[in-house]
Amino acid sequence: MCGIVGAVAQRNVSQILLEGLSKLEYRGYDSAGICCIDNNQLHCIKSTGKVKNLKEAVKEKSCPGFTGIAHTRWATHGIPSETNAHPHICDNLALVHNGIIENFATLKERLIAEGYNFKSQTDTEVLVCLIHSHLKKASNLLEAFLQALHEVKGSFGLALIDKNDPSTLYAARSGSPLIIGLGIGENFIASDSLALLPVTRRFIYLEENEIAVLTTENVKVYNLDGKKIEKSEIESDLDAESISKGPYRHFMQKEIYEQPQSLQNTLLGRLDKDDISLETVVGIDDSSFKDIDAIQIVACGTSYHAGLVGKYWLEELTNIPTNVEIASEYRYRKAVVRNNSLFITISQSGETADTLASLRLAKQQNYKKSLCICNVNGSSLVRESDYTLFTKAGAEIGVASTKAFTTQLLSILLLALLIGKQKGAISQAQNHEILESIRKLPALTQEFLACDKELATLSEQFSGKHHCLFLGRGVMYPIALEGALKLKEISYIHAEGYAAGELKHGPIALIDKEMPVVVVAPDNSLIDKLISNVEEVRARGALLYVFTTKDTQFKADDQTKRVNLPACPEILQPILFTIPLQLLSYHCAVINGTDVDQPRNLAKSVTVE
Ligand code: M6R
Repeated sequence: MCGIVGAVAQRNVSQILLEGLSKLEYRGYDSAGICCIDNNQLHCIKSTGKVKNLKEAVKEKSCPGFTGIAHTRWATHGIPSETNAHPHICDNLALVHNGIIENFATLKERLIAEGYNFKSQTDTEVLVCLIHSHLKKASNLLEAFLQALHEVKGSFGLALIDKNDPSTLYAARSGSPLIIGLGIGENFIASDSLALLPVTRRFIYLEENEIAVLTTENVKVYNLDGKKIEKSEIESDLDAESISKGPYRHFMQKEIYEQPQSLQNTLLGRLDKDDISLETVVGIDDSSFKDIDAIQIVACGTSYHAGLVGKYWLEELTNIPTNVEIASEYRYRKAVVRNNSLFITISQSGETADTLASLRLAKQQNYKKSLCICNVNGSSLVRESDYTLFTKAGAEIGVASTKAFTTQLLSILLLALLIGKQKGAISQAQNHEILESIRKLPALTQEFLACDKELATLSEQFSGKHHCLFLGRGVMYPIALEGALKLKEISYIHAEGYAAGELKHGPIALIDKEMPVVVVAPDNSLIDKLISNVEEVRARGALLYVFTTKDTQFKADDQTKRVNLPACPEILQPILFTIPLQLLSYHCAVINGTDVDQPRNLAKSVTVE
């Protein structure tokens, strides 16, 4: 959460910083601020709300300077307000921060005793004063910065400037992502490379507990003991074009429509006749999974739902017992780890704090290997896992995960086939049949998108509703959970997903004429069971919206609306039936007038626990 951009250049940097912030707004958008050094003075402008408010304020007041830092905030300490917005200033120093300083209260007491006054309720203001306090005795700012960082507990991505040294920008990383962008005669830092694509494609990834000192000509990286570290440069294959909305009204809409292509990209170079190329999973060889006897998947939110689908597929295709857990739960309990277990994390960003903490915990446990299924090259999960399976969805900007989810599902399916083959658990015929189905996936995805207009009309019946249930069975149960999550997070309609067979054990009490019930009902081996469950709901007067394929036995009547979707192979149904649910949420959100790409209280990358 929170986005940071910084620059040290030979030109005014405020526009670069503001454009960078706009690209990082997915990380937090309750307030923003910028500070540049001009004539050895700090010029600081802040505003509440979105980055566009800050842009207007900068246009009015102007913020000159060749060195500067900027921040878009997702509040952790203190309400969203100009006072709490970053940068925070202490005398000659200005600091922006992503993360949480856990021992800020103790440090604050000490600093108050030293004579410091605090205007904000933030932990960040405490940190900038702490650095200032060390600077009084230290020989230079780098030394003071290091001393202060040794005292803090918690997580941080930081950028620091000093009006007395306008040619230097300091940055530090521990628990919150930070990358350095390399320019010609100028250098940058940001929470995500997306922010810097208009100015460079050359990056250095800061690792945990590293500090960087940037000037226009140099970048030096140190560990927390002040020892210099050699870093290598990475050239990004993303370009600025991939992060624009193009003709679409919202990033989410664009990303839903990109799915045929992103799924195609997930497959690119990975299928070879009836084989999945070993290069599909970075780091594996042809025996890596042979001795695996148990799988533990850990993830959050939508990625967790992908893990739940993965359990069905992995157990079916590999015969390996698979457990799935929410990362924030996994990291704080004593898990029993079976011998020869594989630990899998799933994450779009690769930076989700709880997922990352779970991986770090798993590395101290008895796991044989760790594998991450991730969309972001160079992210923390990728760097810290033994194996990586890249989902290749491309940059996903909308806070609601869409193409990242469907590419995660496809990746897990490929992984299940790969493990199934290494374990000898899957027959050649079954392997062949599934791969043939997978080859049709991008084209089928295109066909499923054709229901868009029908769903736009249908969504009008949802506006004004306050609650909604999603039902599914078997592998479609996690898809019902995902449909409900998508609807609530962007349209603010309260929605819950249930396994349809579970309804009569309690939730059926919620059913009345005001409760729309979305049934995810492709023609598959559980359809008869699902039809019986739906009859129980219909008998209680629910309004039913059945997302199904042509030949199923659901009647359409006053109470039941059928949405007929193309026939498709059963193995692909979780991926394909996700698409109409995404479109339903999207249109409900548009009708409800919410901020589709940046829904309230959310952030795309949750780097605090
Ligand atoms: O980057 P990650 O996949 O680790 O993020 C996990 C969740 O925060 C994320 O999926 C979240 O639930 C999305 N807003 C869902 O649309």
